[in-house]
Amino acid sequence: MTTTGTPALDLQGIEMHYGFVRALDGIDIHVNAGEVVALLGDNGAGKSTLLKVMSGAHRPSGGTIRVRGEEKSFHAPSDAADAGIQMVYQDLSLVEPQDIAINLNLGQEKLRRGPLGWLGFVDRKEMRRSSEKELDRLGVRTAPMTRPVEMLSGGQRQVVALARSAIRVNGESQGILLLDEPTAALGYEQTKNVEALIRRMADQGIAIVVVTHDLPLCYEVADRIVILNRGKKVADLAAAGADRDHIVGWITGSRPSMFETAGA
Ligand SMILES: Nc1ncnc2c1ncn2[C@@H]1O[C@H](COP(=O)(O)OP(=O)(O)OP(=O)(O)O)[C@@H](O)[C@H]1O
Ligand SMILES: [Mg+2]
Repeated sequence: MTTTGTPALDLQGIEMHYGFVRALDGIDIHVNAGEVVALLGDNGAGKSTLLKVMSGAHRPSGGTIRVRGEEKSFHAPSDAADAGIQMVYQDLSLVEPQDIAINLNLGQEKLRRGPLGWLGFVDRKEMRRSSEKELDRLGVRTAPMTRPVEMLSGGQRQVVALARSAIRVNGESQGILLLDEPTAALGYEQTKNVEALIRRMADQGIAIVVVTHDLPLCYEVADRIVILNRGKKVADLAAAGADRDHIVGWITGSRPSMFETAGA
């Protein structure tokens, strides 16, 4: 875990307006390398919008974004990807009929050597070999590399999608991973697997922001909890020892913001 003092990702004063809707209202949020930040809030609080701003899918109406101290302006997700930021969407964007190895290498397929490679033939064997190595490094056990994704369970698919993003960001000195409800559709066992993978990825130095409604996940894997309420940040605190009733109060709005001055 690195603690350089400069956050991996740092957003200041982020505003996002959809017409008259203020989806984000002056949000300050950062995540350090090796840290997991759980982003909580009720439906419509602005969590997905904030992730989309971080991932370059949305341009904020105001505010600044810094990646490892450098101010950035993202015009598209590819700009964020160039800065080492990867978002895992809820639909996972996997190619169902293709096997795990192909999915892990999507967009960066390895071609065969020689004339077949020049013609665009992919080197499946090499992709399987390198994918297995990458998964071992992440400590991930899924199905055999040759199994089509359509034959995997929801949890296994989530693991493949997370591992793919982890592999992509790991080419960077310090990657940043954005996850939107990675365990929403999973059972108990699969949730535990995904939680463990999130923690391992962070322990390898990746900075992770995870949107979730799952409080146990926060306590299991998050270092810090950030809570949004109607587009405003109302809490930002260490996960360890955080009071469950307080968290629920901030989520529902029954508890006043940590950042509101008394009487305001
Ligand atoms: N494309 C859009 N156009 C207009 N309004 C939008 C758009 N996307 C989101 N909003 C509004 O912005 C606010 C925040 O939405 P957002 O999707 O970020 O919430 P969320 O915290 O992710 O909620 P959930 O837990 O339901 O996923 C909501 O009021 C929503 O209706
Ligand atoms: Mg959402």
